[in-house]
Amino acid sequence: MSVTVSTFLSMKQKGEKISMITAYDYTTARLVDEAGIDSILVGDSLGNVMLGLGDTVSVTMEDMIHHGAAVARGAKNALVVIDMPFMSYQASVYDAVVNAGRLMKEGRGNAVKLEGGAEVADRIRAIVAAQIPVCAHIGLTPQGINALGGFKVQGKTADSARKLLEDAHAVEEAGAFAVVLEAIPAELAARVSAELTIPTIGIGAGAGCDGQVLVNQDMLGTFTDFTPKFVRRFAEVGDVMKGAYAEYDRCVKDGTFPAPEHCYAAPAGVLENL
Ligand code: KIV
Repeated sequence: MSVTVSTFLSMKQKGEKISMITAYDYTTARLVDEAGIDSILVGDSLGNVMLGLGDTVSVTMEDMIHHGAAVARGAKNALVVIDMPFMSYQASVYDAVVNAGRLMKEGRGNAVKLEGGAEVADRIRAIVAAQIPVCAHIGLTPQGINALGGFKVQGKTADSARKLLEDAHAVEEAGAFAVVLEAIPAELAARVSAELTIPTIGIGAGAGCDGQVLVNQDMLGTFTDFTPKFVRRFAEVGDVMKGAYAEYDRCVKDGTFPAPEHCYAAPAGVLENL
């Protein structure tokens, strides 16, 4: 790891934008890292894009540790942030510290992320006191989908915008080193970014944030069940993959794969003497 939480802060101070992408496995983490991305988020979005669960509610600590450790092995420079899954920190401060510790010790993350504002400030404070950096996450918080009533843009009324601003200050005050702002109006995100000293990482929150995060499968076009408005596809990798699979299928069936160069030859005389 060469990017640290201090790097995040100094990038904000210098006005340099921070790039973050999700990854859930070793191979992808290596590619993301080699591309020079500053940070890899092992998001609980793996419930959607890796496990096909439809939401993040059923994602477990074991899932996060399993995928986090794979990503940590592939990331040489990027800061690895691992999501705390639903109900790993909501019930108590004790749960929060113990489970954050497992994501660091067993998942080998460099930091953890959890959802919520003022209501989780005591948990952020306790995890940070245990020497574990915390990234907060406010706005649309997907673990709360059942309480929120769906994946909806947040902060659209004066009351909810005020609450979001208060939450941003609460998580900063509790010791978070960064805060993800998800699905909020761009003007509100710019205001939060200007008021906080810690960096804001936006997803569906406009260009005024200090950094941006996207879900890997969304930005590559390999997950197409649902594409939020804020996603830009930087490549159509899904089409490339389907093309390759179809070509493989054709070559297997017409006998052109494997070709002689893909085969091992028996040493002279071996088969004759069987
Ligand atoms: O789980 C995730 O991938 C996230 C991002 C959407 C920020 O939390």
